[in-house]
Amino acid sequence: MLKSNIELWLAILAGIVITGVYATVSFLTRTIPPAGELFGHTLGIVGFVMMLMTETLYSIRKRMRGASWGRMSFWLQFHIFTGLVGPYMVLLHTSWKFNGLAGAATLLTVIIVFSGIVGRYIFTRIPRTLDGMELEGAVPEALLRQSRRLLALWHTIHIPIGMALFISAFVHIGGAIYYSTLLK
Ligand code: HEM
Ligand code: HEM
Repeated sequence: MLKSNIELWLAILAGIVITGVYATVSFLTRTIPPAGELFGHTLGIVGFVMMLMTETLYSIRKRMRGASWGRMSFWLQFHIFTGLVGPYMVLLHTSWKFNGLAGAATLLTVIIVFSGIVGRYIFTRIPRTLDGMELEGAVPEALLRQSRRLLALWHTIHIPIGMALFISAFVHIGGAIYYSTLLK
């Protein structure tokens, strides 16, 4: 299903552009952009929205087999693009401080990205159509069975980490809005 790795190249390109903007802002202001000020805050919000899209859009499309709004291969590539770029923006948002729950949410974010990279590798070992259906007979059955089992095991790790991540992120966001924005 994933015939090219264009999403990885686009994510690297976006990462270079974002790093350039971050370096310029740091240079001009002579500080590491603080998480609670305009630039750092914007990075956190935009990055988090991309992470929310990563969590939801592919899963929704996956459960609507035969839907006409874009092939599964496109949505998985979009999942991977936003799943790399969103966390990178959130990482820059932290201003390199990792205290308390927000620090734990960042650690979970890093873990889910690495787990995603491993999952992409296992996923591409199972031949599929562009719409995500497994292609029977394309590789020996024994090999296919092993990959399916690995992918199922991987799902049981990747999905709960995502849930723990979003719960801690929502608590952090609630706290940040209350203490750093509303009380100011
Ligand atoms: C997954 C998403 C996010 C993660 C992992 C994250 C992580 C962090 C971390 C590690 C810090 C630094 C904490 C410290 O000082 O040690 C921080 C600060 C902050 N974050 Fe986030 N953040 C996320 C999303 C957001 C969003 C969406 C907002 C805004 C609505 C936000 C608002 C803030 C604010 C205002 C601060 C500064 C708090 C202060 O200066 O005391 N964060 N965040
Ligand atoms: C914010 C980061 C991420 C979150 C929250 C996230 C969340 C999820 C969720 C909830 C699923 C389950 C979809 C379903 O079966 O309904 C999933 C599947 C998957 N994710 Fe991620 N993911 C993230 C990043 C990544 C990254 C960076 C990659 C690859 C480099 C990746 C690759 C995959 C793959 C290959 C699947 C399996 C697709 C399938 O079995 O149909 N993810 N992800």
